[in-house]
Parts: sequence; C-alpha cells; structure tokens
Amino acid sequence: MITVLGASGNTGGRVVRRLREAGVPVRAVGRDAARLADAVSHGADPTVGDIADPTFLTDAMQGAEAAYVLMPLDLAAPGYRTQQEQVGSAIAAALAAARVPRVVALSSLGADVARGTGFLETLHDQEQRLAALDARVTFVRPGLFFESFLPSLAPMQATGVHHDTIDPDVVLPMVATADVGDVAAVALLDPTPAGGVREVLGAEDVTIPDAVARLGAVLGTPLRYERAPDEVMRAVLVGAGLPADVAEEHLAMNAAFNRGAVGSLAGRTPATTTPTTIERWAATLVSTAGR
Ligand SMILES: NC(=O)c1ccc[n+]([C@@H]2O[C@H](COP(=O)([O-])OP(=O)(O)OC[C@H]3O[C@@H](n4cnc5c(N)ncnc54)[C@H](OP(=O)(O)O)[C@@H]3O)[C@@H](O)[C@H]2O)c1
Repeated sequence: MITVLGASGNTGGRVVRRLREAGVPVRAVGRDAARLADAVSHGADPTVGDIADPTFLTDAMQGAEAAYVLMPLDLAAPGYRTQQEQVGSAIAAALAAARVPRVVALSSLGADVARGTGFLETLHDQEQRLAALDARVTFVRPGLFFESFLPSLAPMQATGVHHDTIDPDVVLPMVATADVGDVAAVALLDPTPAGGVREVLGAEDVTIPDAVARLGAVLGTPLRYERAPDEVMRAVLVGAGLPADVAEEHLAMNAAFNRGAVGSLAGRTPATTTPTTIERWAATLVSTAGR
C-alpha cells in the first residue's frame, strides 16, 4: 500500500491514477471526502484529515511501503512560513514514526538554494528534514507549473494581458503537473530506488511572453505578457486577496528567477525532459472546459 498526500490535487491525483493502473493499493489523503471522489473512483481508499496533525498523519502512513508527500499552499493559514514549517515537520515526523521505507517528495527546482528564493526556501528546508530520515527519499524537482497560470486565466482572457514580475527574457523550464505526477508514480513503483534528485523540466524551456502567446493561440484569444513593476504587482496580488506575506514570497521567487538563481543542475536531457508542451496542456484545458 502506498500513501498519497494531496490526492485530490494536481500531482497527487495523477499519482493515484497511475498507481491504481499498476494495481497498487492506495491510501488517498485530503481534507475533503467529496474532493477525493476521483481518487475513490480509481479504487483508492479515502483518508480524510489535516496533514498538519501529526497523529492523523502517522496513522495515514502506518503500514505504507512508500509515500508521496508534498507541501500544499494554504492561503487561509495565518502565515505561509508557519504553515509550511508545521506541515513539513508533521510529514517528517509521521514518516519517521511509521518507518516508511521509500518516500517520493514533491520539491522544486531551486530547492538546492538555501535562501533568497521566496516560496522555494521552505522546499529547501523540507528536503533537509526528509534527507535525515532512515528511508530512500527521491526529491522530485519540477520547473514552474503551467497550472500557475490558472489563477490569472480569467483576467488574462478578459484583458488580453498577463502581468507578472518575471523578466520577459528569462527562460524557464515549464511543466504540466500531469508530467510531474507521472514521474513521481514511476519513482514510487520502483521497489529499489536510488533516491536523490529527479528533475522534471517539461518539454522545453520557455520565456513567459512565449508561453502566454502560445496559450492564447490555443484558447483562441490573443494574449501578451507585460512585466509589471514589483510595487504594482504587490498591490495587485494583495488587492486580489492574496495574504501580504504570500505576495512577498511570490515576488522574491520571481526575483530569484530573474537573477538566474533557480535552475536545473542536471541539465536538459532525455531523462529530465517530459512530453507535455504548453499547447497540449492548453488543449486539455479547452476540452475540460467544454464538459
Ligand atoms: N506552482 C508551481 O509552479 C510549483 C512548482 C514546483 C513545485 N511546486 C510545489 O507543488 C505544490 C502543489 O502541488 P499540487 O499542485 O499537486 O497541489 P494542489 O493541486 O495545490 O493540491 C493540494 C492538495 O493538498 C491537499 N491539502 C491541502 N492542504 C491540506 C491539509 N492541510 N491537509 C491535508 N490535505 C491538504 C488538497 O486537498 P484539500 O484541499 O481537499 O485538503 C489537495 O489535494 C506547491 O505547494 C509547491 O510545493 C509548485
């Protein structure tokens, strides 16, 4: 049996599907039974609770031969750093208490850098916690998710413009979360994994203006990118309801992208390249919107 955190989410949902296709029993963890319906439809056992609760999480890990773990972003939490530390420590403690021998952890490119990367600093810290476990740990480090466009998709389509603070000439590996889930599932299904880092770089490196224009072409709306000044973006994000500390983490991460502080260590190779292009990802959006 494999325990999957975030089983109703982007990567966890894909992991559940792939593990069930391989015939592996899955304990699917999330806070909401209704949101776990898809995992259940694939034959997973729903396990409802809060992963910040070490007792619940230890129970969820008990008897697992492997676990998929991630650090969800909780915008309702009273502080990003506090929430990430609480969840990260609970995950490490539960894995240790339940003696889970194999762990696949969702991390990110940039988790090798200790400080100065905003959001990504907590993933660096979590890699340190998990590396100290008596377990084979694989750190899945993807590039920027295509799904990170989703919160701004409606305003983008309404105005034809996407604003952010990544410099227009910065080239980044962007990846579909389905590819990340597929890589994580392969690692979970390996009974004798080497552990260590597995980068997931998507099909190609792109600039944000290029990605936005190609997204617009598939959606049938011409879209362009404008690099916003940090102070303007900060006001826009907070005005849209993002907690101030989360907005700061976002700006700091983008500044790290702009300085070239976040990047692949392995380089683009067949092993780090995954199939989904932005066109394919956007086509899935179009087809699911039509349902
Ligand atoms: N965005 C990017 O570009 C990027 C790039 C690299 C890495 N990452 C990493 O990827 C993570 C997100 O992964 P994802 O997209 O697969 O997740 P996601 O789609 O945001 O889903 C989060 C999952 O966690 C569950 N969850 C949230 N809080 C929980 C809690 N307290 N207790 C139990 N379950 C909880 C959610 O279900 P319920 O809400 O129903 O509980 C959901 O299943 C980020 O947080 C970051 O660490 C992101």
